[in-house]
Amino acid sequence: MRIEKASISRLNDTDFSNLKFGETFTDHMFVCDYEYGKWVDPRIIPYKPIEIEPSANVFHYGQAVFEGMKAYKDDSGKIWLFRPTENYKRISISSERLAMPELGESVFLSALNELLTLDSEWVKSGIGNSVYVRPFIFGSEHCIAASPSKKYKFMIILSPVQSYYNGALKVLVAEKYSRAANGGVGYAKAAGNYGSQFYPTGLAQKDGYDQIIWTDSKDHKFLEEAGTMNIFVRIDDTIITAPTTDTILDGITRKSIIKIANDNNIKVEVRPISIDEVIEAHSKGRLNEIFGSGTAVVVSEISSFGYKGKNYDLKKIENSYAETLKSIITKIQYNLIKDPYGWRSEVSAIKV
Ligand code: COI
Repeated sequence: MRIEKASISRLNDTDFSNLKFGETFTDHMFVCDYEYGKWVDPRIIPYKPIEIEPSANVFHYGQAVFEGMKAYKDDSGKIWLFRPTENYKRISISSERLAMPELGESVFLSALNELLTLDSEWVKSGIGNSVYVRPFIFGSEHCIAASPSKKYKFMIILSPVQSYYNGALKVLVAEKYSRAANGGVGYAKAAGNYGSQFYPTGLAQKDGYDQIIWTDSKDHKFLEEAGTMNIFVRIDDTIITAPTTDTILDGITRKSIIKIANDNNIKVEVRPISIDEVIEAHSKGRLNEIFGSGTAVVVSEISSFGYKGKNYDLKKIENSYAETLKSIITKIQYNLIKDPYGWRSEVSAIKV
């Protein structure tokens, strides 16, 4: 791998106590090109604009997939990733669905390790501080025929972050718009899955909601995701989350939560859950929590939801499952407790 270092670092000009999510980037980025059937020229170069022709596939047909990961620094200065091979598997699944070429696992992992080692000072220790890692692949061939690009770029950029949301969320249950349909791309981390949420989410925000709970596109009955997160509903003392079908992203935080809950005597059901069931549980005082999970937020509590013109508030409960699960997963991520699952992966430039 070629490495070209930035001549001047922006580190000392960055106010780490005042970061807005996704607006600040580290000194370097990783780039690798796909041409003539193979990935070539992996390199780390200073973070800067790239030149792409206006006819590139990504601008017209949207061949673009991405991943979201976080790097955490422990108190001894070691940097950790959380289940990075799961992100590799998922970007491969996403790429296949978007007719994009497969990336080698060693390119993905060595790029992450090299880049994070070079920009390690950007990763600050302390719970809440992390670097959000954004690997992405897009079609870069200059050709506007509606067919898969013959050229791609795989890149990784790094963004120092603090928390994604401040406080619990107010969400609106989708009755008209859909995020994904059967047979579509909902399970892929395709750029278009996010872009298509902006308009309906904007409408919901005008009405005072933070995010939308996406429901199945056929009947708008079953809960699928919450904004950019997977969703969990606690009825009595059981947490319920939808199975990951072709409309739901196979969230890495989601599956980690399921495992941690199972191992900590929290009952989990993975099954379809309808909005009718949620409202009935609310009316009987059995709806205890709703929360979302995702890399960016880890776990985010939902304090109320709107459905068919009515708002349903959830009581704030002590020792919520959301807090308990978030605390365990966070401590694993920051190397504060033992990791019985082998999920933590130490960042090291040589050990890939
Ligand atoms: C993540 O949690 O990594 C996401 O996908 C959210 C992101 C779109 C900000």
